Amino acid sequence: MAQLPPHEMARLEAVAGPDRSLEELVARREAGEPLQYIEGTAAFGPLELMVDERVLVPRPETEGLYELAARMVRSPELIVDLCTGSGALALALKKRFPAASVFATDTSEDALAVAKANKERTGLDVTFAHGDLFDPLPQSLIGEVDLIAANPPYVAESQFSLLPADVRREPKEALVAGPTGLEVIQRIGDSAAKWLRPGGVLVCEIGERQGVSASSSVRDLSSVIRRDLTGRDRYLVAVKP
Ligand SMILES: C[S@@+](CC[C@H](N)C(=O)[O-])C[C@H]1O[C@@H](n2cnc3c(N)ncnc32)[C@H](O)[C@@H]1O
Repeated sequence: MAQLPPHEMARLEAVAGPDRSLEELVARREAGEPLQYIEGTAAFGPLELMVDERVLVPRPETEGLYELAARMVRSPELIVDLCTGSGALALALKKRFPAASVFATDTSEDALAVAKANKERTGLDVTFAHGDLFDPLPQSLIGEVDLIAANPPYVAESQFSLLPADVRREPKEALVAGPTGLEVIQRIGDSAAKWLRPGGVLVCEIGERQGVSASSSVRDLSSVIRRDLTGRDRYLVAVKP
């Protein structure tokens, strides 16, 4: 029990109770379960979201993407979140821009069940749809979207086994994109211009060594790579002229 860092112990003590002994929770954490799965919640921007093994735990880097996205647009009417997982970006953006219509997609029915539970939990009205990237969106959105936000999978298949044990407990399809890791980012870059209105913005989280490839994958948009708070290249920002 003494092996967990004090801040983790404090968080487990806070959720232990008559139905969940501290010993049981510590054993789960020591066996590699993400802390947030044990707690059942994760903070994301202005929200506290329900999370479990069906979704990636929202990360601080993605809160950075959310802040960046919110700064890139003034009064968006139409927002799309691709690869929504727990619904983190979509719900936080809806909270920030209550007048916007927000659509969010994911290929995982399990993840969408969590996203819909978070919609109920937060009372924020986002339309969640099942399918590949832009496929489930209404055709009427083509050329109309003010902001596309995405935190897609971007790990290469060969890198998966090198990830920390607790990260490997998260859904593999949320992490691994394919042999290079760039597969999903490239498909987003390929199609974003079709869905954005002139002046519309794509913001996409990327791996720190993917900036050059991600930039060259966007078609018909002006792109730059932005750094996170630790100075790593982590965000692709692209604007439709
Ligand atoms: C890195 S997680 C991001 C989850 C959430 N947006 C966040 O930032 O916490 C990626 C999500 O993309 C989904 N996904 C993977 N491939 C996809 C695709 N081709 N189209 C839509 N969603 C996809 C996964 O199921 C997973 O929920």
